[in-house]
Amino acid sequence: MRLAGKVALVTGAGRGMGRRYALGLAKEGAVVAVNDLKADKAAETAKEIEAHGGKALALGADVSKKEDTERMVAEVMKGLGRVDILINNAGINPFILPAEKVTEEGWDRVINVNLKGVFLCSQAVFPVMKEQGGGRIINISSQAGLFGEQGLLPYSVSKAGVLSLTRVLAYEWSRYGIYVNAVAPGFIAGGMNEPILGKTELVSALAERVPLKRFADPEEVVSVVLFLCCEEAKYINGATIVVDGGMTGYPPKPILDLLGRR
Ligand SMILES: NC(=O)c1ccc[n+]([C@@H]2O[C@H](COP(=O)([O-])OP(=O)(O)OC[C@H]3O[C@@H](n4cnc5c(N)ncnc54)[C@H](O)[C@@H]3O)[C@@H](O)[C@H]2O)c1
Repeated sequence: MRLAGKVALVTGAGRGMGRRYALGLAKEGAVVAVNDLKADKAAETAKEIEAHGGKALALGADVSKKEDTERMVAEVMKGLGRVDILINNAGINPFILPAEKVTEEGWDRVINVNLKGVFLCSQAVFPVMKEQGGGRIINISSQAGLFGEQGLLPYSVSKAGVLSLTRVLAYEWSRYGIYVNAVAPGFIAGGMNEPILGKTELVSALAERVPLKRFADPEEVVSVVLFLCCEEAKYINGATIVVDGGMTGYPPKPILDLLGRR
């Protein structure tokens, strides 16, 4: 129960990884405000937390809309009285396309949810955390934000932007006790990857890029996010914790393999 007495807000927590972060936070004793664009899905996660003896509040809101994010934080304050932790998790990856085929609408959609949403939610909790004397913000980026993925131009750009946003906010807001960090997962066996998990050939080809030769178990990412919320992590600020089984440091076609020297 490392987070007893804390109130956490998790965006995009109606399913996938957000749901798991919410359940993990509740298990550590936090009261959890569960956001999702789909209010019914947020309510399902909140119910699940309560079924396990925790306390939760469900909030339907679109993180890419300023009025929604402000209303969401106002509702958390009204219902739960504070916000100690914000997990900026809501994200979309709706298409894989060559850069020249990405439409303006597709670009805006991805950037608005994945990058502007992180900015808006962080800005919405800022006055609350400042008034409280501190807080933790964890931004969910991706390994795609570190080296850029073919076919994922706006997604990669949005996730790289999240890393830069993390560093600037950490620099500006640590004077108020607000620590801001990012987590960059690689391939997770869950969430938005669920539709491909049954395609064993594709999964093996992707896992081949990972030195550990497998996708992450979702709980291997949850544990890192929880750690960043806890007291033990209080000197970590403006950092990006990469949870990708070593993929980022490992080019897709390692030169030693190409030269036949391994
Ligand atoms: N699954 C992976 O392998 C992986 C790897 C790296 C990073 N990530 C990142 O982790 C985060 C969660 O991904 P996931 O795999 O759980 O995806 P998911 O598709 O399973 O869940 C995303 C959730 O966000 C919600 N959402 C979408 N748009 C929203 C909006 N505008 N406002 C509020 N909620 C919204 C969806 O309704 C959904 O419940 C994303 O930021 C994603 O980019 C995932």
